[in-house]
Amino acid sequence: MLKKLVMFFFGPPVKYVVSQLNLHAQVNQQIKIIEGMVQDIYPSAWVINSRSQAEISKIKKVFNLPENLDMTISKNDLMFKNYIVAGFSTPDTFKAYLVRTVHFMDIIEKIAERKWGKNQIAQSTPFLDFASGYGAFERLLIHRLPAEEIYTSDIKTQGVDFQVEQFGVKGIYSSFTPEDFEPATKFKFIYVASLFSHLPEDLFKRWLKVLWELTDDDGVFVFSIHSTKIIGEDIDFKYLDSSEDSNLVGSSVEDRITQADKYGTAYISDSQMEKYLMELGINKQNYYQYPKVFCGLQDIVVVSKKENIFDDTLKFGYFDSTKY
Ligand SMILES: C[S@@+](CC[C@H](N)C(=O)[O-])C[C@H]1O[C@@H](n2cnc3c(N)ncnc32)[C@H](O)[C@@H]1O
Repeated sequence: MLKKLVMFFFGPPVKYVVSQLNLHAQVNQQIKIIEGMVQDIYPSAWVINSRSQAEISKIKKVFNLPENLDMTISKNDLMFKNYIVAGFSTPDTFKAYLVRTVHFMDIIEKIAERKWGKNQIAQSTPFLDFASGYGAFERLLIHRLPAEEIYTSDIKTQGVDFQVEQFGVKGIYSSFTPEDFEPATKFKFIYVASLFSHLPEDLFKRWLKVLWELTDDDGVFVFSIHSTKIIGEDIDFKYLDSSEDSNLVGSSVEDRITQADKYGTAYISDSQMEKYLMELGINKQNYYQYPKVFCGLQDIVVVSKKENIFDDTLKFGYFDSTKY
C-alpha cells in the first residue's frame, strides 16, 4: 500500500526527469552503428547454420515439402526479420517463416479446390501474388504451378528482383498509385496477403477497385484484412501510421517503407467492407469473409466473379510453428 502511494505521488515526476536525461540516446546510437555495420558485412541472404537446417528439415518432413525447396531468404525480408525482432532465435525464425509459407499454400489450395475442383490448382493461372514482399510464398508455389505462370508484384523493387532471380517467376514493379498498376494480363487468382491491413482508407478503396478489375471473369480475388473486431472498436475504418516498416526506425533494412501516409496499420468493420465491395457491384452473395483464418489474426475475404461458392463449410488449417 505504502509502495503504491509513493509511486502514485513520486512516480510520474521521477519518470519525467529520467526521460529528460535521455539516458538511452547514446546506447541507441551505438546499436544503430552496429546494425549498419552488420548489414554491410552480412551476405545478401540469411546464413543457414546446422541448427537452422535442422528446423527446416523438420518442417519439410512434417509437411512433406519438396526436398529442393529453396530456403534462400533475403536479409531485407521483413517477414523474416519480424520474428527476429519479436525475440525468436534464428533457427526458430526459419521454422516459423516456413510454417507460414505452408499456411499460405493451405489457403490457396483449398480455395482453388473449391473453385475449380480437386487437384485443379493448375486452373488458377495466371496467378498474381500482389504485395508479395521477398517471396515468402513463391518458394513453395513454384512447386505447384509453373513459375512462368506466376506473377509477383511489390512496391519493393529489390524484393521483386529477388524473386525473379531466385524462383524464376515473373515480376511486376508496383506503384504507390493504384491506377498506375497496369499489367498486360488479367489473373485467374489474385492473392493479397497483408497489404489491405496496412493501407489508409483512400488507397484501400482504390487498390480494391484496380485489383478487382484485373480479376478474370472465371477468377477469384483473395485478400486479408484486419477486422475492427480485433481491436473491439465500433468504427468503420481506423488507420494508424505505424507498421513493421516504420517500427524499424534506425534499422539496417535497406528498403523499408518510410511513407507513413501510404503504409501503416488498418482496421475495417464488416459493414464498411460490405459497403466498399457493393460500390464495385459485389453484393453479399458474391463474397465470403472468413474471420481470423490468416495467421490467426486477419480475416480472409474471397470474392469470385461468378456465383459465390465460398461459405463456412470451407475449413482452413491452423498453423502454429511453436507446436513443431
Ligand atoms: C506485410 S507485407 C506482406 C508480404 C507478403 N504478402 C507476405 O505476407 O509475406 C506487405 C507488403 O506490401 C508491400 N506494399 C506496400 N505498398 C505496396 C504497393 N503500393 N504495391 C505493392 N506492394 C506494396 C510491402 O512492400 C510489403 O512487402
